[in-house]
Amino acid sequence: LIYPVILCGGSGTRLWPASRESMPKQFTPLINPDSSTFQDTARRLTDDGVFARATVLTSSDARFIVAEQLAQAGIAADIILEPDRRDSAAAVAVATLHAAAQDPEAVVLIMAADHVIGDTPAFVEAARAAAAGARAGQIMTLGVTPTAPATGYGYIRVGEPLDDVSGNHRVARFVEKPDRAGAERLIAEGALWNSGYFLFRADVMLAELEAYAPEILEATQAALAGAVRDLDFVRLDAAAFGRAPKTSIDYAVMERTERAGVRPVSFPWSDVGTWDAVWEVLPRDADGNALRGRVETVDTRGSLIHSEGDHLTTVVGLDDVVVVATADAVLVTSKARASQVKDLVANLRAKA
Ligand code: GDD
Ligand code: MG
Repeated sequence: LIYPVILCGGSGTRLWPASRESMPKQFTPLINPDSSTFQDTARRLTDDGVFARATVLTSSDARFIVAEQLAQAGIAADIILEPDRRDSAAAVAVATLHAAAQDPEAVVLIMAADHVIGDTPAFVEAARAAAAGARAGQIMTLGVTPTAPATGYGYIRVGEPLDDVSGNHRVARFVEKPDRAGAERLIAEGALWNSGYFLFRADVMLAELEAYAPEILEATQAALAGAVRDLDFVRLDAAAFGRAPKTSIDYAVMERTERAGVRPVSFPWSDVGTWDAVWEVLPRDADGNALRGRVETVDTRGSLIHSEGDHLTTVVGLDDVVVVATADAVLVTSKARASQVKDLVANLRAKA
């Protein structure tokens, strides 16, 4: 069995105002009208011939929403609470230690709670195939065929095959978030997007953490040793966890280990981090518009209009725009500039 771990730590600031500090994007019905991407992620893991019980890592603040959304989806999981945000390396270390306590050679699958996958059977098949590489001692990633020179993703240059049969490869190099020219060059060379999904044997990841990030391993071991169970939650010891350096698993381990492997995959995938990415994955009408809620448009093309509650949101004569109307805030931007919503939110925070 594969031990799935859902990382549920993002705040989704570039999807303001639908994504808020108190209700981050992974818990909102952003893509599907009656399910969050967190719930969609958990539902992808319900084949108990393939997956063991899932573990969710999230912040203490999100504990009730996580528990409620799992209950609503009818899924049982271990929920581990992080006292503060220490980035993904510490979260992966905790998850690995948690799996190792059940089986030192457990094959762990790290997933994000905020991604869209267009083909669940293809995803499950890819995870099983990558798990074979993990069992053989590699830290496997799923490498997605790029569809555009995106600058918000890491890229993977694919190395030689790990063997003659599996279709798994060595990683030649990770390149985290290149600029646009760099992304174009990488794609021309056949590089893949780093999906941020990792599969590894627990003992292998612990050895790599020991070698490359011993402070994180020490802090997370102590945080679990001092953890308290509270209802269904495992609450990590705050003082110990706070000692873990803030860094991503990409920087802490993946870019340094000699055991990095990649499985090329071709299912539709997006981390839907910005409104233009949301537009990409939503169904669109003949004018290329993705319209949600009470919306009326005239002479408008290629746009995303998202209207919550009773608002009637209308657009006349604009192309390639994003309009998001929620109960207490309205955003208007162009699709091309949608990633700058991050700056807007920073300004709002500075004024709050
Ligand atoms: N539980 C928990 N706690 N999860 C966290 C934390 C944390 O402190 N920090 C990050 N995560 C989770 C996020 O929720 C997300 O699911 C995942 O770890 C990746 O973190 P991001 O902060 O979203 O990273 P990124 O999008 O900038 O880049 C990473 O993901 C891309 C794919 O979406 C990198 O791995 C890139 O190379 C990759 O392309
Ligand atoms: Mg992300």
